[in-house]
Amino acid sequence: MGQPIPARSDHHGDDHRDDDWWRSAVIHQVYVRSFADGDGDGTGDLAGVREKLPYLAELGVDALWFSPWYLSPMKDGGYDVADYRTVDPAFGTLAEAEKLIAEARRLGIRTIIDIVPNHVSDQHAWFRAALAGGPERDLFHFRPGRGEHGELPPNNWTSEFGGPAWTRVTEPDGIPGDWYLHLFAPEQPDLDWAHPAVRQEHEDILRFWFERGVAGVRVDSAALPAKDPLLPDLVEGRGPHPYVDRDELHDVYRAWRAVADEYGAVFVGEVWLPDAERFARYLRPDELHTAFNFSFMTCPWDAARLRTSIDETLAEHAPVGAPATWVLCNHDVTRTVTRYGRADTGFDFAAKAFGTPTDLALGTRRARAAALLSLALPGTVYLYQGEELGLPEVEVAREHIQDPMHARSGGTDPGRDGCRVPLPWAAKEPYAGFGSRNTPWLPQPDGWAMYAVDRQQDDPGSLLTLYRRAIRLRPAFGTGPLTWLPAPEGVLAFERADGLRCLVNLADTPVDLPGHTGILLASGPFDTGNRLPKDTAVWLRTRPARFSAPEESPS
Ligand code: NOJ
Repeated sequence: MGQPIPARSDHHGDDHRDDDWWRSAVIHQVYVRSFADGDGDGTGDLAGVREKLPYLAELGVDALWFSPWYLSPMKDGGYDVADYRTVDPAFGTLAEAEKLIAEARRLGIRTIIDIVPNHVSDQHAWFRAALAGGPERDLFHFRPGRGEHGELPPNNWTSEFGGPAWTRVTEPDGIPGDWYLHLFAPEQPDLDWAHPAVRQEHEDILRFWFERGVAGVRVDSAALPAKDPLLPDLVEGRGPHPYVDRDELHDVYRAWRAVADEYGAVFVGEVWLPDAERFARYLRPDELHTAFNFSFMTCPWDAARLRTSIDETLAEHAPVGAPATWVLCNHDVTRTVTRYGRADTGFDFAAKAFGTPTDLALGTRRARAAALLSLALPGTVYLYQGEELGLPEVEVAREHIQDPMHARSGGTDPGRDGCRVPLPWAAKEPYAGFGSRNTPWLPQPDGWAMYAVDRQQDDPGSLLTLYRRAIRLRPAFGTGPLTWLPAPEGVLAFERADGLRCLVNLADTPVDLPGHTGILLASGPFDTGNRLPKDTAVWLRTRPARFSAPEESPS
């Protein structure tokens, strides 16, 4: 970086008293497998993360959310958990996870883990015992098939990954028997949340990790675990859905909240629900603290639609007093610079296709602007590893794709590996410094080194530098509400605390900047004088400065 960045006064050090940290945090998602390879075996690991903690501290993030690091056959990148109390040997050991949690905390960074209540791996002890005919069968959804010989699945539900949501087992006596439910891959059998042992086990797992210093939990597929006990056919539009967003779930999360409250820990739910009122029910004061904002994440690059998404988000959170979250991408969706560089700038799983034309320069310009937009909004911001480097989605060659979404779509869906390619850390090192001795678990494409951290860290114009500066300056916006300001069509303009304003130009032409006393940060060059170019965002000061940032230019 050209100039030093001021330290955040409220950030590092002993902030145990800051119980509300999660209301305005910047949280960085770590997909361990692809983050950094500490032992050189081709797979990212906890040793790699520990080495890179100084990088994360310098980025200025408040917490790390780790996608699952537990023992897993990796049929769904670790979302198929075989044992919650063991770290997968490919990633390290439990002792290393404990060290990582403590080391991060010393740098002012909290740890959020990922719990997957809907299902386990088919290698989990419970499911193996169930297949062997044990009473553990009651912990899952086993049912006889329909048809004369039970040869048809028990109902018409389909897997989120494509194909039927049921697989028939061969009983210990060698005869085809019952079917079991899996809303995802067959290697991910669904648990029966009506069974008290399932609830007890998850409360114990929460305690197990809270005892180890974990400060929060991301709840995977949080609206799916409860099922209609009769497992009826799905008939769209008739009565309560048999497995999405069932009322029984709220009891589960109330019990979890009671456990978390003993430790001062927090939840973020993966709640994909179109209905704002139903969504907000998960965020009542005795349930989950926060949930991901998928409306914002899937919203096209369009001023009116973004404004509506922001307004609706704030309106749905207000009655329950929960902070909003702002998310641009994660390990499941197309990377931001790619999405914004396409004709369709929204995101929809069903629309994913090989060979979609992309203008990366355009997408990157917009992603830079979107970074300043999301970091200026009230609430929590999530950042997915590599987003701060502007990594594009990679079109992974079919023979290397591991994501089950690809195979289960019959090969039409490129799957999600394109956003999971191992990170580039050092341009001149083998595998762009990921750390592997041989090709990493997913190969990196040509040109990957150009995005490397060591290429960006001293470049004042890099996306990494923009993120670092923005995260450092963000506390100046305070925790108060936002007020929209009059602005030309296609421009988002709002004010936060202390006369700080954020303007984003999504119109086709540059717009005049309103009166201001200083420019804190801009997402791109002002090559049009005092006019904000298109696809550019700026943070403005409109009152005399109480402090000045080194990069601030008076106007
Ligand atoms: C949501 C996770 O983000 C995704 O990666 C996973 O495949 C499914 N839940 C199933 O656990």
